Amino acid sequence: MTDQNGTIESHPLQNAESTETFPPSPDFVGQANLSDPSVYWRAAEDPETYWAEQAEQLHWRKPFTEILDWTNPPFAKWFADGELNVAENCLDRHVAAGLGDRIAIHFEGEPGDSRSISYAELTHEVKRAANMLTSLGVAAGDRVAIYMPMIPETIIAMLAVARLGAAHSVVFGGFSAESLRARIDDAEAELVITADGGYRKGRVSALKPTVDDALALHGGGSTAQRVLVVQRTENDVVMEPGRDLWWHEEITAFDGEHTPQGFPAENPLFILYTSGTTGKPKGILHTSGGYLTQASTTHRNVFDLKPDTDVYWCTADIGWITGHSYVVYGPLANGATQVIYEGTPETPDWGRWWSIIQKYGVTIFYTAPTAIRACMKVGRQVPEQYDLSSIRLLGSVGEPINPEAWRWYHEVIGGGRAPIVDTWWQTETGALMISPLPGITALKPGSAQTPLPGISAAVLTEEGEPVKRGQGGLLVIQRPWPSMVRGIWGDPQRFIDTYWSKFGDQYFAGDGARLDEDGDIWLLGRVDDVMNVSGHRLSTAEIESALVEHHAVAESAVVGADDETTGQAVVAFVILKSQQTLLDPEDAEVELKKHVAAQIGAIARPRQVFIVNELPKTRSGKIMRRLLKDAAEGREVGDTTTLADTAVMQTISDRVRRERAAK
Ligand code: PRX
Repeated sequence: MTDQNGTIESHPLQNAESTETFPPSPDFVGQANLSDPSVYWRAAEDPETYWAEQAEQLHWRKPFTEILDWTNPPFAKWFADGELNVAENCLDRHVAAGLGDRIAIHFEGEPGDSRSISYAELTHEVKRAANMLTSLGVAAGDRVAIYMPMIPETIIAMLAVARLGAAHSVVFGGFSAESLRARIDDAEAELVITADGGYRKGRVSALKPTVDDALALHGGGSTAQRVLVVQRTENDVVMEPGRDLWWHEEITAFDGEHTPQGFPAENPLFILYTSGTTGKPKGILHTSGGYLTQASTTHRNVFDLKPDTDVYWCTADIGWITGHSYVVYGPLANGATQVIYEGTPETPDWGRWWSIIQKYGVTIFYTAPTAIRACMKVGRQVPEQYDLSSIRLLGSVGEPINPEAWRWYHEVIGGGRAPIVDTWWQTETGALMISPLPGITALKPGSAQTPLPGISAAVLTEEGEPVKRGQGGLLVIQRPWPSMVRGIWGDPQRFIDTYWSKFGDQYFAGDGARLDEDGDIWLLGRVDDVMNVSGHRLSTAEIESALVEHHAVAESAVVGADDETTGQAVVAFVILKSQQTLLDPEDAEVELKKHVAAQIGAIARPRQVFIVNELPKTRSGKIMRRLLKDAAEGREVGDTTTLADTAVMQTISDRVRRERAAK
């Protein structure tokens, strides 16, 4: 965490930084995809050749002769004169290699239905869907919004869009109508693919009505002309004639003949919106050849994938980058067999995940620290009822994993034998960047440790000098990498300002990090106004602007306060308008929590809303969130001397303390 001078202290959850290490077992090393540490220095000597060798493992319709073009930083081009079809790489080439009968997806629905889909079947379905999309006018260069539950059709839709050289913009199914509409319009998507609903927590969670609401907002006029609806839950939905079509009805007209065409390596593959430090989400743009190269290489190396024997499961929703790179593109490009699960881990009870691991013999399991901590709270007696002996490797993503959760994961889920790869990366990096290699690295609980081969990362002072071992600073990536963000959709200047203005042509990740005495990297959390709640990125500014849109709210300040389960939690401080009579301060907390969930989505719902009379401000009017964070976390409030009114903070922290005590 940064203090007010911007220097880095430590991450609150990493209080006891451990010195214990876990070297790979001889058995693991003996079978590992990578076990020779020379891979690091060979890649470091000539990273471009290293990445070209990785890219050559894909199927290129026109081979590339150029590797990296960095003549116009920060706009990189990788393999730019090559042409490939991303979907063909994930599908047809495995079938052509005789692997058509291999299971690509074991789908487990929340109510207990299941389907196993082979590579041949998945290829067939994607070809049909591509033909259907063509008939709806989707062509190379277009954008298609996808707002879906975790079902196979979501993957089919993404791959069908990619197959046509169009770009998808997947919007997480938990986002509100308002958030969905903003994303549809920003990308100028002409088609939305959705479902009637999905199953979550034992109930139907409707999706199509949110699409209807989204398209009706602001008097209509959205760029989206068509809505294609997958039938999953059979809840009643209204179909608007001329606009809405059922997927299962349309697709019957199309067969499985579709010849993939090559598209340039820099053809856009997808846009994925993520929160930044302002109220407007950023459309992170990824392209094809470099992205697929790094997603597949890292998936193979870090998860030590053996495609013919492993059963891989990443629990991330497809609406996030982890779902894009490590459910769809990485695993399918590698011909992996994987599990996808529609629902939540506690439905019908907390044994659900472990029963799925037992059922399919999952060997590689990748999830987030928040989920691990939630399972820890429930207790080890739940997973202990299941046979988890198939597990041979575990992964962690999205936030720092505290050593206590690491040890629990290692012992209880990994049987004390499975290595854990703590993978640091971002929506913008597209693929894993800093992570142990399980056949090489002696693991340190709580640290992501080492940049992967071909990646060069550093921790710098504010002035851009490398920090010494034992010190903290700001994390940067020093050289371009194949799966790097190519820009912010429609806003090149924001791209430059956000990531490249601080340290020139080095990418500033927005994270604080510390180098330990061995030179290993420990992530310390964001140094900007971005929160990380359950491994999901939320912007303080976005929630603040949602709050002030409420008719009763005059002003608001939002902070991410430490939370023992979700890493951070949203805590809002709100001043109500003095003349307003519509909202009783007694009801305000409940009402404003609901309001934020409706405006942005349930993930942004504040844990607490404190109604206050004033906010702590400097004499120039800047809200001092750092002090609010101290109060929200129950700490002694820091230096208040720069406040215009020093008494304000005392009142607020007394309030927070009283409420904490009452709970
Ligand atoms: O702060 C870092 C944290 O998550 C941020 C990226 O969020 P997002 O783009 O939503 O992607 C999440 C999944 C890749 C980072 O800036 N983060 C991600 N992985 C780790 C992490 N923090 C610590 N350790 C990690 N392994």
